Amino acid sequence: MTTPHRLTLTQFLIEERRRFPDASGDFNSLILNVALACKSIARKVACGALLEGGHGDVGGAVNVQGETQKEMDVVSNEVFLQVNEWCGCLAGMASEEMESPYQIADCYPKGKYLLVFDPLDGSSNIDVNVSVGSIFSVLRAPMGEAAVTEQDFLQAGAGQVAAGYAVYGPATMLVLTVGNGVNGFTLDVNLGEFMLTHPAMQVPADTSEFAINASNSRFWEPPVKRYVDECLAGRTGVRGKDFNMRWIASMVAEAHRILMRGGVFLYPRDSKDASKPGRLRLLYEANPIGFVIEQAGGRASTGRQPVLAVQPSSLHQRIGLVFGSRHEVERIERYHNDLQPVEMPNPLFNERSLFRMPA
Ligand code: F6P
Repeated sequence: MTTPHRLTLTQFLIEERRRFPDASGDFNSLILNVALACKSIARKVACGALLEGGHGDVGGAVNVQGETQKEMDVVSNEVFLQVNEWCGCLAGMASEEMESPYQIADCYPKGKYLLVFDPLDGSSNIDVNVSVGSIFSVLRAPMGEAAVTEQDFLQAGAGQVAAGYAVYGPATMLVLTVGNGVNGFTLDVNLGEFMLTHPAMQVPADTSEFAINASNSRFWEPPVKRYVDECLAGRTGVRGKDFNMRWIASMVAEAHRILMRGGVFLYPRDSKDASKPGRLRLLYEANPIGFVIEQAGGRASTGRQPVLAVQPSSLHQRIGLVFGSRHEVERIERYHNDLQPVEMPNPLFNERSLFRMPA
């Protein structure tokens, strides 16, 4: 038996481009540069404590989000900037780690795209050797190749040209959407190439697994509390089935699990800190992950509306985020919009009964 021919990321992008004979090739070049940055970060992450400079905190430094910066946050940010600045297809970049948009140096040609990224998501996990990742989003530059302003990046997620993430786990994977489904590539460390291993990824519409940081429960809004209480009640409650809970505290890793086997992730708006309407960032986290999940048939929401419809108001805006298996996210949205009557723990009305409530 012959081994099936697997496409490399480069071959995959060339095949995609054949569908658009007028394409300049800039977009492919951009994605390959992003992939190169991710390979470089993967190597550094894999060194663990052996990395020169280490994986620890940057002596007392905090980023623009007020979070402790890890050495690897800074290094990964530098890698993204350096590798992508060169490519000639960008008008500018914005990073979770930098207060203002990054201007492409004059010595490089400019292009028609904007790159937005979180260079190392979940970095609080890095010291304990748990999966982390990089998240990226590609937008069109509204002002062409002119110097970029914050305003240029304030585009609703529905307008993304492409988005994806790399997860640095036991294997490194790159998951990508160019608005035409979702494909997953595994890094062949011998070849140094991302190989197409997971074509046409799909999030199952139903699930019995949810992910939330339950230590925040006293700050949750009633619809979230209701949803989680119903999951916890399991087969004796209105849902009529048992649920499993997971929390890695690394959103890329949670998104990847959900993409592979379904589930729902919630980091909802809460009352923990009045200055932060949610924990996650709209441009660097919610929009790219939302685009990937929706392209795989799942759903991404603020709880009240599709996350991709939100008009951003600032570069580092935070937002409540719920994403994953479509039927669960729709249920959570109904609870927020108060469209679903409180279900009674009556077997006649639970999920397995003849009188199942509409999902
Ligand atoms: O935004 C960074 C991040 O590490 C996410 O990857 C993750 O989902 C979340 O923060 C974890 O937050 P917490 O520490 O509140 O569980």
